[in-house]
Amino acid sequence: MAKKVTVVGAGFYGSTTALRLAEYNIFDEVVLTDIVEGKPEGLALDMNQSRSIEGFETKITGATTTAEGAGYEKTANSDVVVITAGLPRKPGMSRMDLIGVNAGIVRGVAENIARHSPNAVIIVVSNPLDEMTALAQIATNFPKNRVMGQAGMLDTARFTNFVAEKLGVEVGTVKTLTLGSHGDTMVPVPSRCTVGGVPLSDKLSQADIDELVDRTRNGGAEVVALLKTGSAYYAPSAAAARMAKAVIEDSGAVMPVCAWVDGEYGISGVYLGVEAEIGKSGVRKVVETKLTDAEVASLKEAAEAVRTKQADVKDM
Ligand code: NAI
Ligand code: 2OP
Repeated sequence: MAKKVTVVGAGFYGSTTALRLAEYNIFDEVVLTDIVEGKPEGLALDMNQSRSIEGFETKITGATTTAEGAGYEKTANSDVVVITAGLPRKPGMSRMDLIGVNAGIVRGVAENIARHSPNAVIIVVSNPLDEMTALAQIATNFPKNRVMGQAGMLDTARFTNFVAEKLGVEVGTVKTLTLGSHGDTMVPVPSRCTVGGVPLSDKLSQADIDELVDRTRNGGAEVVALLKTGSAYYAPSAAAARMAKAVIEDSGAVMPVCAWVDGEYGISGVYLGVEAEIGKSGVRKVVETKLTDAEVASLKEAAEAVRTKQADVKDM
């Protein structure tokens, strides 16, 4: 069976994700869509022309779409769909400031995707992430395991980078974890962090760890403030692409994602950042990890913070 992935939104996040997915050379086709006429087709043409240089065969198809659903036939029967459509933050904005406008965009996109790719696994990245993931599930009416959001992979990668830089070690020796929401109630998990197998608390003082946790929580805003227009996309696209890869390869890789939580950690009925095993059915299962009492309390706090907003999106 041909392997097909669609990336909705050909902005910074979407276009870099599409190229990463194509360069993996594991899909037959990557479809890139946008409502800006000609933009996805132009980017696809450009990406296809890099194939002989980079040595991949995956074909990239661009498709201009409309909110009413025109153009979506090119996305038909995708195995995986990454939704990046929506506005990014400007300096000083919180992700939550985007909810009104992005909810309308994500709902429309999700409905069109469900019509053309009824068996797809959906990976949402549009912000505010936890709420847009919940909305995509409502709008598609897909089983909850087939809709997940990307945030934890990115936040964890940022934490890892900060730890590696602080200690002057290779990033490959550092393992970190973040759970919770992709926002103020993000839960970096120092108890699960190691450097060369040694607990982070043996390598850094509590004050240093707190500083890195804080920087991780504000990792997105730090990039936005420097860019002044638009938000991060290199690390975010790497994260979403790895999730799509785990789905199409049915790898069972365990990664931090925004997944439906149903009893784990004593939390139920909410999309939340947790570790999960990813495969062709999307989230195979949420993997509960050993946390300190304080970390579990923070995770519960995050769940309550996103629960109300997630309930609100059904009317948006
Ligand atoms: P961007 O502004 O570069 O691109 C967004 C694209 O979406 C534009 O090309 C726009 O024309 C397109 N679009 C709007 N409505 C559409 C529709 N109905 N159908 C198809 N395309 C549509 O923004 P960027 O940097 O690509 O970010 C996209 C989203 O991802 C933002 O909401 C941003 O906040 C979010 N984001 C999420 C992260 C995460 O970790 N979850 C990390 C970084 C960004
Ligand atoms: C980020 O964390 C803005 O959510 C986006 O970079």
